[in-house]
Order: sequence, then C-alpha cells, then structure tokens
Amino acid sequence: MRVALISPPDGLAEALAARGHDVRSIAGAPPAAHALFRRRAYEPGLADAPLVAWRLSADSFDVAHAFSPAHAWAAVALTRVPCVVSLAETPSRRWLVAQRYRLPMLLLAAAGAAAVTVPSEAGVDPCRRYLLREPVVAADGESLDRLYAQAPMVARTPKTLLPPAARQWLRELFGLEALYRRISVLEQRLDERLDRLETQLHESHDDVRDRSRARWREARPDIHLTWGGELPGEPFVEKAEAHGAFGASKTVLEVGPGYGRLLATCVERGVEFGSYIGIDLSPDNIAHLESRFPQPNVRFVEGDVEQVALDEDVDSLIASLTFKHLFPSFEQALRNLRPRMRPGAVAVFDLIEGERRFFEPDGVTYIRWYTRAEVEAILARVSLELVAFDEVRHLPEQPRLLVVARAPE
Ligand SMILES: C[S@@+](CC[C@H](N)C(=O)[O-])C[C@H]1O[C@@H](n2cnc3c(N)ncnc32)[C@H](O)[C@@H]1O
Repeated sequence: MRVALISPPDGLAEALAARGHDVRSIAGAPPAAHALFRRRAYEPGLADAPLVAWRLSADSFDVAHAFSPAHAWAAVALTRVPCVVSLAETPSRRWLVAQRYRLPMLLLAAAGAAAVTVPSEAGVDPCRRYLLREPVVAADGESLDRLYAQAPMVARTPKTLLPPAARQWLRELFGLEALYRRISVLEQRLDERLDRLETQLHESHDDVRDRSRARWREARPDIHLTWGGELPGEPFVEKAEAHGAFGASKTVLEVGPGYGRLLATCVERGVEFGSYIGIDLSPDNIAHLESRFPQPNVRFVEGDVEQVALDEDVDSLIASLTFKHLFPSFEQALRNLRPRMRPGAVAVFDLIEGERRFFEPDGVTYIRWYTRAEVEAILARVSLELVAFDEVRHLPEQPRLLVVARAPE
C-alpha cells in the first residue's frame, strides 16, 4: 500500500516498509510557523495543517496515517485520502480538553477516519466514551500492517454539493460563523469549570477548606485586599455605628481587619470604643497592623476565626468583605465566636446577596453569595437574632447586603 505517515513515531516507517508498503513520511512545518501560534489555546501541530493537506492531495496515497489531533484533523477534514488516526497516549478527559481545539478536532477526525487505534487496552474505553469511536489496539508495524489490510480504506466523498466558498458565504450570511465562535468560547469556559468541579469532587472537604485558607494566610496588607484600590472605611463604619457597634465602653472585635481600613477610619473620625481586637489569618497583616496601631487599647490576634480561642468577651463583632470568603460558609466562624459575645452584643457584617459560590481561577479564592433565607437559617443555628438586613456601599456602585444580628439578652 502507498502510505503517508504524518510525523510518525521513530522506527514505524522502516517497520512498515519492511512489510512491503510504499511509505512516505510527511514532516511538520518549520518551527517558525509554530512559533506564530504560541498561545494557550493553540494545539501543537495546527500550523502543519496546510502542509499536510497539500502533501496528501498532491500525491496519491492509499492511506494517510496521523498521530496527533491536528494532523488527524487536517487529513480527515481537508483531504479525501482514507485516514488512520493513532493516539499515542490513552485519551484522558484532561488531555482532550487541554487545548481549545483538541477535542472538536479529534471528534471530527475520529468520525471520518477509516480506523482509530489506541496503544493499549486501557485506551479502548476512553476512546469509546470521549471520541465515540470503537478503536483497534495497535501500536507496532505488525499490527498496523494487519489493520491496513482489514480496515476499509475508502476515499471519502464531500458531504455537500456546494463548494466550500459557497458554504462559507452562507454561514457568514446567516451569522453561523459568529455563533460557532461564541459556542466555542462557551465550550471552553464550560470545560474549565468542569475541570475545577472535577478537582473539587476529588478533594475532601478538609482539603478544600485548607485551600480556601491558603489564600488569606499568605495575604499581604495592601490594596489587593480591597479590590485593588483604596476603599473608604466610612460607609461601613457609619453603618456599624448606627447599628450600635461602637461606644466608649465597648469591646469591638473585627474579623479580618486586613490592612486596618476600618480601624483607621475609626481613629480618624474619633469613633469611640473601649478596646479593639482584630483577628486575622495572615501573619503579614498582623505585623503591619501591630506597627500601624500601637494604641494600648488595640490588639491583634493571628488566627483562624473558626478556631481561635478568644480570652475575653466582646460587645460587638464586625467584619467587612471577609465573611463571603469563608468556606463553606460563615457559620463556623460565628459558632466559634458566639460564646464570647455578651448578651446584647451586636454582629454587623457584609455579604454579597445571591446564590452563587465558586473558587476563582487562582484555585484558592473562594467566594460565596447568600440569600437572606440562608443568612436567617445560619443565625438561628448559632443562636443569634436577626435585627435587620441593611445595605452598605463601600463604593457607590457596589451595594452589599449588611447583616445586623444580636445575641439575645
Ligand atoms: C478581603 S480582605 C478584607 C479586609 C478588610 N476587612 C477590609 O474590608 O478592608 C479579607 C481579610 O480577612 C482575612 N481572613 C480571611 N479568612 C480568615 C479567617 N478564616 N480567619 C481570620 N481572618 C481571615 C484575610 O486575611 C483578610 O485580611
């Protein structure tokens, strides 16, 4: 048989030639062509597609044999030469979605190929599942030689009578191209989300919790804690003051003070408190806070709000931009602090209202939205009474749900 091997593994051309085949190897495009495409979504080998299509069409081959997704796609989609697609590794879901074009290219190639081969039995089931194609286990010259003899090597006929240019024109006319592009972006995003979900599924609850803490343990006391800019402390402090969180004799506990935005506002505006305690997970934040606020009635504790053992009772608990990051919810934080809240003590904290929760692409920043019903249920479980749902705007265009709760007298 006259066989075109497209970038074959070492030794295969010789092995097939030894079995009497007329073998031609088609190499890829020069490295400079690949360098042009160095982006995350770029599938290695895609730059070879025009060359592969041209070489296959310019000669007459009985079979083209491709070993990479892009080469397989080029042979199947751009030529009429019967094609065998050999996957060098067991196709895992992660490998298939590793590049934006890999899975669609392989699905198309697998559907149009004369045969698909996998290197071992382990690849059979994934190939059926992900590529919807029954593969043949074949890895060496001998098994491939057998395959060439068995698989029906029939040249494909075009699926439509319309020439490609006319089809393209119609697709543009009806907006299909834009739709395909949009779908491909959505597919990519979905794949990324599925990857993240899969990772989470395989992690235990404790692992995920540790991951959510890692972000804050390493936090630095800078504006990255407040959306990358200086946020005014007044909106939150004014609301907390209006809800009775401050007063000359009160012990105020702030959870997650960050770089001290709220406390600085209290000091500047002369908002009164008897003493002020800040609990933060980040040692860098604590060091910064201790040097920024040397006042004798202010102190900071390095620790996790869910576990820290406070050594005094408090009259107020405040938290800004922090409870939304606690995984899986802020319930355990309140449960841990609750015994230290004096009867009548007030808790004022902000949340994002809604029904989402996810880890950001960094994999460590957890953000959870809450419905009012969820907040009420959590408060009830930790024996706090809801006083009011209010609103705080750290910035005019950023409304946040402000929860005001109280320990019963
Ligand atoms: C987004 S920053 C908000 C900073 C500050 N409250 C503000 O509004 O400017 C969240 C803060 O909460 C702290 N934090 C996050 N999880 C914590 C936890 N489990 N225990 C204590 N502090 C935590 C972080 O270290 C960080 O300082």
